[in-house]
Amino acid sequence: MKKKQALRILITAGPTVEDIDPVRFISNRATGTLGVLAARAALQAGHSTVLVHGPVPESVLRRIPRAARLRTIPVRSASQMRRAVMRAAKNADAVIMNAAVADFTPAVTSKDKLKKAACGLTIKLKPTADILKELGRLKARGRRFVLIGFALESGSGRTPAERRAAQLAEARRKLLAKHLDAIVLDTPRAMGADTASFTLIEASGASRSCRNFSKKRFAGELVRLAVKLSSAGLT
Ligand code: CTP
Repeated sequence: MKKKQALRILITAGPTVEDIDPVRFISNRATGTLGVLAARAALQAGHSTVLVHGPVPESVLRRIPRAARLRTIPVRSASQMRRAVMRAAKNADAVIMNAAVADFTPAVTSKDKLKKAACGLTIKLKPTADILKELGRLKARGRRFVLIGFALESGSGRTPAERRAAQLAEARRKLLAKHLDAIVLDTPRAMGADTASFTLIEASGASRSCRNFSKKRFAGELVRLAVKLSSAGLT
């Protein structure tokens, strides 16, 4: 019988937190659940796993057992996540970029708590580096690894069908623009929920809808997809 392929899988999870001052920050509603469950599924399937995660609740982190094949790297900000991911990606066969990385960060983080009078109503933001895009550039230049990204889309349109078409079009655009092997389309409703609907779209054009999947079940699908893409040599 053919031996099962053990991969080195890098998974990111959770939000990033962008500090405004020592007490205030910008972040989002991600809980890290799907990424943590994907790391657990990867370990259970025998893969070496690195989990880079933003601040996630202890109750979520406890869902992954300690294991010799698991390395967890906690980070806070988008720039810390970028550094950890780009370093860990050097030794990865597959990267699953599930983290909800902040797209913007304060232009300046104040060391002191801002006074009401000093900050007024405007906080200047600057864009963060797009980590997924940077990983995609490595692939475009010939590095071989499987790259799976996410597209969190609410879609615009008057009817549910129009919104769905807009979501799919945007996910396909990101798949191509970022040189991904596959992209997972989900919606803001997935954040914080235990069950959600996902669409898996592969660079080959194949797509699959996973309606009302528990995150645990979908996490297993994600890991199987990474293995399938890796063994198909599509990297
Ligand atoms: N991502 C990233 N670095 C960022 C922002 C996002 O690596 N600074 C990754 C996420 O981990 C996710 C993917 O990019 O896998 C898509 O994130 P999403 O917020 O849906 O899309 P963006 O490309 O940031 O575009 P927009 O917010 O304009 O839709």
